[in-house]
Amino acid sequence: MYEINDSLRGRDFISIYDFSPEEIKYILEVGREIKKLQKAGIQHHYLAGKTLGMIFQKASTRTRVAFEVGMYQLGGHALFLSPRDIQLGRGETIKDTALVLGRMLDGIMIRTFDHEEVLELAKWAEVPVINGLTDLLHPTQIIGDLMTIQEHKGELKGLKAAFIGDGNNVAHSLLYGGARVGMDVVIASPPEFEPDNEILARAQAQAQQAGAKLWVVQDPEEAVAGADVIYTDVWASMGQEEEAEKKEQQFLKYQVNSRLLSLAHPQAIVLHCLPAKRGKEISDEVMDGPQSVVFQEAENRLHAHKAIMAVTM
Ligand code: CP
Ligand code: NVA
Repeated sequence: MYEINDSLRGRDFISIYDFSPEEIKYILEVGREIKKLQKAGIQHHYLAGKTLGMIFQKASTRTRVAFEVGMYQLGGHALFLSPRDIQLGRGETIKDTALVLGRMLDGIMIRTFDHEEVLELAKWAEVPVINGLTDLLHPTQIIGDLMTIQEHKGELKGLKAAFIGDGNNVAHSLLYGGARVGMDVVIASPPEFEPDNEILARAQAQAQQAGAKLWVVQDPEEAVAGADVIYTDVWASMGQEEEAEKKEQQFLKYQVNSRLLSLAHPQAIVLHCLPAKRGKEISDEVMDGPQSVVFQEAENRLHAHKAIMAVTM
């Protein structure tokens, strides 16, 4: 069976920024190999006897299923820890939770609002902590996405990805991902909804080493020109439900529809992390059209997350 080395064993997976280009390349390679094993029906119990705790302070379909099923397929076991049931929801601190869970589990995945909570958990837990999405970042998503892009385009270096819409957690992690693999990333957002300046600057510094360009524009048409990958996400993320209606007006120009897609590279693929608001940030015809790879992208979360667990835990 394909051998996984210990180079990343024990590491937290909190941001793509923390990993070198070689390390990201390695995680993608492990993802590809694990996908092949799974498709061939070959047992691959890299994490036999190990357990992952999954804390979800926000809803999830893909991330939860990918980690839970992934852990099972790796020979381990995953526990879903809802804040409604665990003492964290009644005010036990992150620190104490980490000190306890770190003694019983082999890894902890957390999806929460405040990014600081993930850092605090990782500070005190003795085991690897995986960021399953915060208001700031969504790194596990981008590993699955890079895998998907590779499957269609081969080499990532030199591609151009255009992210259309809210400069949110997914956009931030895409910037970090582009920087590490040498893929140009342009974000087209309405004023006031651009990605965080500090993240952009940090990502740009890394991108320079990889020979990639990262930039922000307002015009979605300018962004998609010649793009190999078009990426979009909801205009209002989890926790922003109250702003959703107001935002819709500001984002009207930012729908990924066939007109916008026609301005990209003719072989461009369309990604969306999902869940989508069909008819808002993406039209039905694009989402269900021949250039859309969104469901393959969703499937790749499983293979990518198995890789993240198998290398770190
Ligand atoms: N893309 C993503 O993270 O989906 P879920 O919210 O369903 O996990
Ligand atoms: N930006 C979205 C991604 C969901 C997977 C959110 O945070 O709600």
